[in-house]
Amino acid sequence: MSTVPILSLREVTRSYGDFKAVHPLSFDIAPGESVGLLGPNGAGKTTTISMITGLLRPDSGTIKVKGQVLSSDTSPIKRAIGLVPQDLALYDELNGWDNLRFFGALYHLGGKHLTERMEHSLRFVGLLDRAKDKIKAYSGGMKRRMNLAAALLHEPEILLLDEPTVGVDPQSRNSIFENIAQLRTNGKTIIYTTHYMEEVERLCDRIIIMDHGKVVVDDNLNKLRNGGAQVQRLVLELSEPPTASVLDRIRKLGGVQSVSLEKNRLTTEVETLQPTTVLLLQELKNSSVGWTHISSERPNLESVFLRVTGDQLRDS
Ligand SMILES: Nc1ncnc2c1ncn2[C@@H]1O[C@H](COP(=O)(O)OP(=O)(O)OP(=O)(O)O)[C@@H](O)[C@H]1O
Ligand SMILES: [Mg+2]
Repeated sequence: MSTVPILSLREVTRSYGDFKAVHPLSFDIAPGESVGLLGPNGAGKTTTISMITGLLRPDSGTIKVKGQVLSSDTSPIKRAIGLVPQDLALYDELNGWDNLRFFGALYHLGGKHLTERMEHSLRFVGLLDRAKDKIKAYSGGMKRRMNLAAALLHEPEILLLDEPTVGVDPQSRNSIFENIAQLRTNGKTIIYTTHYMEEVERLCDRIIIMDHGKVVVDDNLNKLRNGGAQVQRLVLELSEPPTASVLDRIRKLGGVQSVSLEKNRLTTEVETLQPTTVLLLQELKNSSVGWTHISSERPNLESVFLRVTGDQLRDS
């Protein structure tokens, strides 16, 4: 990384009792990067985010924000960070306005500046006209949007979003998503945790996948989708089932990793579509096997995710 990282984790660990939730974890994030932090339930994402925001102390290792060690919860460098927590952090009995005033005070904001920031944040998430209503009267989507507004009051450079769109309807999800996309365009550094892969595919350039407290993937999204480790799936519907010897020859074609046949449907996993598709069609032609339909599936983030984290359920 040529630029100085805005955030740097080195060998960070954290246990709960005997349970190691985060194993030595290291990564650097450049200013303006937009990173999807993914992982199955219990992978250690929230624990990691809580350490970055100073809410939890690492057992060992160092976290640097803009080159400065984040030593405690009161570290001034914490002002560079905004957190949208996984669990809503709002006071039900207070209205939206007073909630924001409270969060502003935590960052020592006050007076006219705070009022301006509150208005700006509320307008940004589309809640300015509901600010005088108590939070308990808000819908789930409005609460999530207010959670985002609270994180933006002190104009953080780095925004950590821990499942900010969970449990909301598609309209609110879209509105929150658009807000985050705007923040990204404005140059904020974004670390985004979600189980909605399509959001990450639209928003993030880089993907970090955690599992069992460790980083299992850290790569550019496009590289992950098109990278050599990933296979492309090529599906052909044949006019008739091929003989065993034709199948055998297909299996031995350059770049073919696996072949399976279900009725007339031939599914092959290939390293790259080019040139294996041409070789495969030529083989079918030579063997006088006709085909009626051909399609290919590009690996998406979900298939990458399942490949690296497996399909076992996590009930932690
Ligand atoms: N306060 C705690 N006490 C004991 N164990 C905890 C505590 N907080 C988290 N854990 C455990 O640590 C592990 C990592 O939890 P964490 O919340 O960081 O995961 P996550 O990746 O955010 O998961 P999710 O997708 O469900 O939000 C889990 O096994 C969890 O049960
Ligand atoms: Mg979590």
